[in-house]
Amino acid sequence: MAGKLITVEGGEGAGKTTQLAFMRDYLERAGHRVVLTREPGGTALGEEIRALLLGHRHDGMAPATETLLIFAARAEHLERIIRPALAAGHWVLCDRFTDATYAYQGGGRGLPPERIAVLENWVQSDLRPDLTLLFDLPVAVGLARAGRRGAADRFEREEWAFFERVRAAYRERAGRNPDRYRIVAADRPVAAVRAEVETLLAAWLERV
Ligand code: TMP
Repeated sequence: MAGKLITVEGGEGAGKTTQLAFMRDYLERAGHRVVLTREPGGTALGEEIRALLLGHRHDGMAPATETLLIFAARAEHLERIIRPALAAGHWVLCDRFTDATYAYQGGGRGLPPERIAVLENWVQSDLRPDLTLLFDLPVAVGLARAGRRGAADRFEREEWAFFERVRAAYRERAGRNPDRYRIVAADRPVAAVRAEVETLLAAWLERV
C-alpha cells in the first residue's frame, strides 16, 4: 500500500520543528514507518541549494531564480526520497513543501501563482500532500520567537510586510482547501498545540 505525504507549514517561529518530532512519535506509535524530512533540502544536493537560498552570498537573488532553485531541490527530493518512501508504504512527514512556495514566493515576493502552478505540475505530476497542518500565528509573535534563535537567514531578514503577505497567502490557501488543510493556532504553549495536533491526527487517521 502506498504511504501518505503529510506536510507542515507556517511562518517563522511557528514551532514546526518541535511539533514535527511529536508528530513522528505519534504516527510511529500508530504503527507507521515515518520518514521525517524538510524543504528546501532533504538530500545532499537539496541541502546545498538550501544553503544558497538561506545564506547571504546572493542577497539580491531574483524571485524567479529563487523559485527555480526551490523546485530544483524539490525535484531531487521527490526523486530520491519522497517517491521511493511512499512507494515502500512509508509515511513522509515533510517540514514545508509547495504550499510554502505559494506563500513565500507567491504571497511574499509577488510571483504570479500561475507560474508556480506550472512548476508544481511539471515537477510533481499529480503528487500532492494528503494532509497539511498550518501552524498559524501573528507575525509579531513568530518573529520575536525566531529572533531568539540567532543570526537571521535571508528570509528572516525580510521586512514585516513580507511576513504579513506570507501569512495571508497561507491562510487563503488553507481556506480554499479545507479537506487537505488543518489550521492550528500556534501562539499557545507547546503542550496545548501538541494536544490539538494529536487530536486532529487521530481524527484524520480514522478516515484514511
Ligand atoms: P525553515 O526555516 O522553516 O526551515 O524554512 C526555510 C526558509 O525557506 C523559510 O524562511 C521559508 C523558505 N521557503 C520558501 O521561501 N519557499 C519554499 O518553497 C520553501 C520550502 C521554503
